[in-house]
Amino acid sequence: MDVIEKGSELCEIIQKWKRAGKRIGFVPTMGALHRGHIALIEKSVKQCDRTVCSVFVNPTQFNDPNDLENYPRDIDGDVDMLRKAGCDLVFFPGEREIYPNGREYTLNFDLGRLDGVMEGEFRPGHFRGVAQVVHRFLELIEPDAIYMGLKDFQQVVVVNKLIKDLGLKVDLVPVETVREADGLAMSSRNIRLSSEMRKRAPVIFQTLMDCSKWIKTHPVEEVREMALKQIRERGLEPEYFELAAPESLLPLNSGMVRDKVVACVAAKAGGVRLIDNLVIKQGVCYFAG
Ligand code: PAJ
Repeated sequence: MDVIEKGSELCEIIQKWKRAGKRIGFVPTMGALHRGHIALIEKSVKQCDRTVCSVFVNPTQFNDPNDLENYPRDIDGDVDMLRKAGCDLVFFPGEREIYPNGREYTLNFDLGRLDGVMEGEFRPGHFRGVAQVVHRFLELIEPDAIYMGLKDFQQVVVVNKLIKDLGLKVDLVPVETVREADGLAMSSRNIRLSSEMRKRAPVIFQTLMDCSKWIKTHPVEEVREMALKQIRERGLEPEYFELAAPESLLPLNSGMVRDKVVACVAAKAGGVRLIDNLVIKQGVCYFAG
């Protein structure tokens, strides 16, 4: 596996692969890798001839400087896991490689309403930063496919919009969320949970599962309140619990009949911010007919 820091070296290798007609899969990450990330690598390894992984803690997507500072980093562990998973190249760029003219080098993408709901509302500027860095990587790597986790459902919708709006020729491949045995979605942030909060955090996924039942018999406004209450009762602080249309992410109102609904949640567990979601098929039936 090549371990590369310079964009120029990366481009040389990529060009060589392209000339040889290789299909290139790309997995962007911020490191501190776990099995969730590795599921993306494995899917790319299966579907592509060459797999590139980037590890870059992107400053422009952090609206909280503490969060950026405390973000876990484990370069040796990352390289080890990527090698075992069959990754061909890991790109660890410095900030100058990504933002050659400073962080202010920024194409600004219009993400419309997507930037104003849920994660967009609670982390202002977050998706602008995600769109910038993903765009920069797509420009450098020009992969045939980009692999992204459904754990960050809204991020997948944002990157899909970016690709469609710019007419980029890259397939976006979404990958199911990998969970711990008790349902907690794997996240680089989980290692920062206290042992007490680690025990309580599965209430997030439990509530998403409960929501898929409540939604059959209660209006969405009530489901939202029931979910927030259940999460608070376990000692976590929810920021939002939203039921939305999976394509537009616009919040639902009661009485709307839909095949598919996505329930999305963000909650702080002792200061560690966790997010999760669940796509519910045959979602809102209440008031129907
Ligand atoms: P990061 O949080 O490191 O996640 C990298 C990729 O791994 C994302 O596509 C994310 O959805 C996926 N992922 C994380 N946990 C997962 C899990 N439990 N199951 C499946 N996939 C999971 O998301 C980012 O980095 C950044 O915003 C990035 C896209 C790299 C841009 O900076």
